[in-house]
Amino acid sequence: MSTYVSSAHAAKTDNLPEGLLPAIRNRWSIRSFSPELPTKAELRTLFEAARWSASSMNAQPWRFEIAFRPEPRFQQFLNALSAGNQAWAQHAPVLGMAYTLTDLPAYNMSNRHAMFDLGAALSSLFIQAADLSIFGHLMGGYDPELAQSLVEEERPHELGCFFVLGYPGMPEQLDEPFLTREWTPRQRLPLEELVKGL
Ligand SMILES: Cc1cc2nc3c(=O)[nH]c(=O)nc-3n(C[C@H](O)[C@H](O)[C@H](O)COP(=O)(O)O)c2cc1C
Repeated sequence: MSTYVSSAHAAKTDNLPEGLLPAIRNRWSIRSFSPELPTKAELRTLFEAARWSASSMNAQPWRFEIAFRPEPRFQQFLNALSAGNQAWAQHAPVLGMAYTLTDLPAYNMSNRHAMFDLGAALSSLFIQAADLSIFGHLMGGYDPELAQSLVEEERPHELGCFFVLGYPGMPEQLDEPFLTREWTPRQRLPLEELVKGL
């Protein structure tokens, strides 16, 4: 990581408390990417982390579709994003879509925990990524109809979000307001507000 990139990283990770796993401390949602492509082996490791997440009834409902820049499919995914997300996501080397299967065919019922399980899997994926110095950004800002038209899945499903993955790049390649955001310390609600009874 260059000094400039690592200064942005420090701004995002310095104000976290002691005791956290390094990968949890280091994960944050970057918007500036290096053109360097994570290897297929690295990407497989990230999706293995998702694969080994817990899920209700071990249904493993999470599904991912990814595309590499400059593949045509990358551009199709990009077109589905909101303009604000397109502005920086276009420079990421990997762009993906995450959705979750909502049926439980073995039980002839729907899976009301499907989106919960997808979130858990994505969390594992991004923490594993941080451990490999790969970063990313989840995006819920997209055109749902356009995104749906791109899904290659026959079973009932619900779209979660798009995501980008890559190595961090120079923040100065970003335009405002994204440049400032890349240096702004992250904020969180106090633990007391989040946890009752601790
Ligand atoms: C479901 C979901 C949807 C999100 N959608 C967007 C989005 O459309 N655009 C964006 O810039 N960030 C998006 N984010 C990123 C959040 O803004 C970010 O995670 C949050 O501000 C905390 O920052 P951190 O991830 O750097 O800790 C999304 C995050 C999640 C979990």
